[in-house]
Parts: sequence; C-alpha cells; structure tokens
Amino acid sequence: MSKPATALHTVTEHSPPARVRLLDRRNAHADPDDERRALVAGLFAAPAVISPKYFYDDIGCTLFEAICSLPEYYPTRTERAILTTHRDSIVQAVGTGRQFVDLGAGDCAKAALLLPALHARRYVAVDIAEAAIGPALSRLTPVFPRVEFMGVVTDFSRRLDLGGAIDAGPVTFFYPGSSIGNFTPDEALSLLRRVRDLCGPESGLLIGVDTKKDKARLDAAYNDTLGVTAAFNLNVLNHVNVLADCDFKPAGFAHVAFYEPIKGRVEMHLESRHLQRVRVGGRERVFVEGERIHTENSYKYHPGEFADLLASAGFTELRVWQDDAGDFAVFYAS
Ligand code: AVI
Repeated sequence: MSKPATALHTVTEHSPPARVRLLDRRNAHADPDDERRALVAGLFAAPAVISPKYFYDDIGCTLFEAICSLPEYYPTRTERAILTTHRDSIVQAVGTGRQFVDLGAGDCAKAALLLPALHARRYVAVDIAEAAIGPALSRLTPVFPRVEFMGVVTDFSRRLDLGGAIDAGPVTFFYPGSSIGNFTPDEALSLLRRVRDLCGPESGLLIGVDTKKDKARLDAAYNDTLGVTAAFNLNVLNHVNVLADCDFKPAGFAHVAFYEPIKGRVEMHLESRHLQRVRVGGRERVFVEGERIHTENSYKYHPGEFADLLASAGFTELRVWQDDAGDFAVFYAS
C-alpha cells in the first residue's frame, strides 16, 4: 500500500540534496489530531484495527526492505524480473521522455530499473515515508544528471495531491510492488479512478499486482522463518506508542498471518498472548488472551479480475506482462 501519515516526522531529517525539490503535503489535507483520533478509535473498536500505513516509520521501512529480499517473499524479485525481462516492450508501451510519478516509491529501486531506458523528463517519488525517499533520491540524482528529481511526501491513498509537482504534459504513473493489494477492491477502484483522472493523452499507469496462488506459498511469504515479517508487524505497536500516547509492549503480542482464499487476501493480525491492560490515547484498553488487532490485508488478483478493475476505473487500453509461473503481473493501462 501507500505508506501514509507519520504526522510526527519532519522533512529535514532525511533531506535529499538541494537540487531535489521535496514537497511535504502530509498535513495539507489531513489534520494530525484527526489522524490520531482515528487511530485511537480503531484500537478501541472490536475487533481492533491499525491501518497498515503506520507500519512505515524508520524501522518499519528498514524491515520492509529486508522483507523484499527474503526467500519466501517472492513478489519483489518476481516483479523485478518481469520489469527487467520485458523492459523493452514495457518502455515501448509507456513511451519515452514522459514525466514519471513513482507512487509509494520507497527506496525507488524498481523505478531505477526502468529509468535508463525511459529517458524520463522528470521523476517524482511519492511516498508517506520520507525516511525512504530522501536517501533514495540522494542516490539517484548523480546517476541520472539529465532527469529532474522531485519528492512528494503525502498520503496519496486519500487524495492524489502532488502539490504542482507535475505539469500538463504526458505522465506515466508507476505503482509497483502490489501495494494496490493493501486496499479493499472498492478503495483500489477509487484510487485507480483518481489516477485515471490525472491521465491525459499519452499518459497511463504501470502497475504491479500479486496474483492468487497456492495457500501454502502465500502463508509462507508472510511467515518467513527469520521472523522479519513478524518484527515488521510487531513494530507497528512501537510506532503507535509514539503517535497516540499508548504503552503497547510488542512482546505481549504474536504475529499472525494467513491467506483467506474466500476473500482472496492475506490477513495480518497481532494476537494478544495474555490478558493485558494497555494505555491507548491516555485511556485503558483491555486485550483478552487471543484477541486480535487487524493490521493489514493484502489482496491477490487473477489477472482477469484486475483487468476488470482497471476497465471499471476508466482505462481502455491494457497490456500485461507476467513471469512464466504467473506469480505476478505488471499492467500498463491507458
Ligand atoms: C507493501 N505491501 C505490498 C506488502 C504486502 O505484501 O502486502 C506489505 C507486506 N506486509 C507483509 N509483508 C509485506
């Protein structure tokens, strides 16, 4: 998913070089107090819920990068292989010399695979986690001296406000990593429509989607033997403690993740190991043994299902590239 709303961060900590413009749009449409109230309300709900956008504090970003290299977590390397193997035909479909908007850019590693062939006029890294894009833009600028680099720190899951970072010329939106799967299909459709609305002539969306597959493989991908995904899941409690006056002890919770084939999604939860009293937003919240906090959904799509979603969002031309095993799909929709 997008990696939104760490409202307490500042932009200075990880700032890229002066030649890169970094716009902070986090508070342009979201009031940090409202965000905090919604977070606390979710924790008092039954079942309790924490939005996955809160995974991505500094440690969470580092853990997510580690997840992407795990043997069990096939999506990152499979998507990378598709982008590399089919680079020429992808670039031909997308066109060169465009503005390139990397949604949920993170460490910008996937865009870096395409940039040498795309000859992008402007590269805009968009992410809620400034901790990731600041250093990534610092790495990329010297490698591509002819590209104009910009960063926008924002929660684009609510509103695609790029703060004037792109002009009216052709633009390619890039949304890799199957982050679209972290939204419900309805939310995904709204986001795809918002992107479609920003696409003029010669513009489109290049998007990576994880496909439905064998439950055992999906379960393993979210339950790695090193426990990195467990640490990623538990770390959200540390972040929530900072954001919303809570005193969660991560050791009091267990990582639970499984593929739910009827809903077509992997669910992640944190399960209370015992009866415990936690300060949440200054009040007491009791978690009984076995009670779960729902932290993430990761929807998987058959390629045909996702093509239908793109068509419903208003895209009329579709191309798709897959690996031989069909584990992952990259679409270009215009
Ligand atoms: C960012 N997103 C696509 C990842 C996923 O697979 O849903 C987040 C993740 N959660 C656990 N492992 C990776």
